[in-house]
Amino acid sequence: MAALLFLAFVVILLPLALLLLLFLIVRPKPVNIPIKNRHVFITGGSSGIGLAMARQAAKEGAHVSILARSCQKLEEAKQSILLETGIEVATFAADVTDFEAVQMAVTEAGPIDVLVVNQGVFMPGEFESQSLDELKFMIDVNVMGSIHMIRAALPLMKKRKNGGPASIALVSSQAGQVGIYGYTGYSASKYALRGIAEALQQEVIGDDIHVSLIFPPDTETPGFEEEMRRRPQLTNIIAASSGAMKPNEVARKALNGIKSGSFIIPCNFEGLLLSIATAGLSPQRSVLMAFVEVVTAGLLRFAGLCFQWNWYGNIESWHAQRKSKLPTKL
Ligand SMILES: NC(=O)c1ccc[n+]([C@@H]2O[C@H](COP(=O)([O-])OP(=O)(O)OC[C@H]3O[C@@H](n4cnc5c(N)ncnc54)[C@H](OP(=O)(O)O)[C@@H]3O)[C@@H](O)[C@H]2O)c1
Repeated sequence: MAALLFLAFVVILLPLALLLLLFLIVRPKPVNIPIKNRHVFITGGSSGIGLAMARQAAKEGAHVSILARSCQKLEEAKQSILLETGIEVATFAADVTDFEAVQMAVTEAGPIDVLVVNQGVFMPGEFESQSLDELKFMIDVNVMGSIHMIRAALPLMKKRKNGGPASIALVSSQAGQVGIYGYTGYSASKYALRGIAEALQQEVIGDDIHVSLIFPPDTETPGFEEEMRRRPQLTNIIAASSGAMKPNEVARKALNGIKSGSFIIPCNFEGLLLSIATAGLSPQRSVLMAFVEVVTAGLLRFAGLCFQWNWYGNIESWHAQRKSKLPTKL
């Protein structure tokens, strides 16, 4: 009898008590962010994940603006969305590294309800073999570009008159959750977005603006094709996963996450586990997800250590193989 009572306590009462406690403490509070009839502004919206998000948002009745550098790619994107949905999106040609150009585009576009900061460049390579210009380029586009976009959009977002919660969503990467061989520069730029998002959320919550961080895995986009041509061999060995996702799938997950105000948005099951394992001190709106994070923390840390064991094993045997192929000195 005592054993039965103890079992009931552990299996039923303890989880219920934890759920109740989490319900009381989880912050920020849950929110729904509609996109229908609202202004969704997507940077890097002329290609890959951004284009898929623009198409999806247009289908859901949003007023969509896209921003990128190439006028030709913007026009092609506009026509492809028009053909598929019958909806015309607004286009803005600007380089996110140029704050004045970004500010002009945002002023012309008008107040934004949902800002998706998605532009990004990814150039894998061993840190020592990458030029400083290349490393700086990734930081400029991925970090400073995102800062420029948010800085330009925020004043008008705060003044928006139509009411309702607004969103700023930053597209990071799984390389912004875990460092992987060959992604030193890229990871630096994507980890930075997490710091921006966590701090910014506290600053804009009072204006009913909700920040999201999207963590796509490998996704079949023009940018990814480019990246695959120059990925170091060891990166391919370590980052070998269940395959790349389609941009439309990532876009659907991302938009659903934004609409539910999720702070962290993983795009597949692997990404969900990674997000739980790296939750740290990030905000969490969902009581259920908070529960899973608390209960699985130790187990996922163990799984993380197993991954590191596997990765370092691969690195060691790769170096050993390379050394064995070097000509021996007589
Ligand atoms: N594909 C993946 O496997 C993957 C995985 C994880 C995370 N991500 C992230 O997801 C985001 C989108 O990636 P994607 O694969 O869809 O990329 P993509 O196909 O290469 O598209 C990149 C978009 O960003 C725009 N862009 C690039 N530099 C810009 C700049 N300086 N100013 C303004 N716009 C700029 C591009 O247009 P222009 O060239 O005309 O400017 C294009 O519209 C990126 O942040 C990337 O880091 C991608």
